[in-house]
Amino acid sequence: MSDFTTVASLADVPESGLKAVQVDGANLVLVRRDGRVYALEDRCSHEEFPLSAGEVTGDQITCALHGARFDLASGTPKALPAVLPVRTFECRVEGDEVQVRL
Ligand code: FES
Repeated sequence: MSDFTTVASLADVPESGLKAVQVDGANLVLVRRDGRVYALEDRCSHEEFPLSAGEVTGDQITCALHGARFDLASGTPKALPAVLPVRTFECRVEGDEVQVRL
């Protein structure tokens, strides 16, 4: 099991906003909502479009290309055309640091 890696400053992730980050060659999108930060793979499971180009509505992220929605916590698809989940990663906030475990 790997350790947590600092991937961003909390100040860089706006409330209900998105931030794309790269860590160890992986593209992730961070989403901050209600004081919590979520980390998902920055690639829609439909046609691999970056989810960081989308938007957050409630507890879901919407892909900008065709409108698929995914649950922030689980990556479960909530709206077509996506039918497969996106990967999610354990994420925590330590002080002002957002940390992810890959
Ligand atoms: S690429 Fe995301 S919905 Fe099609």
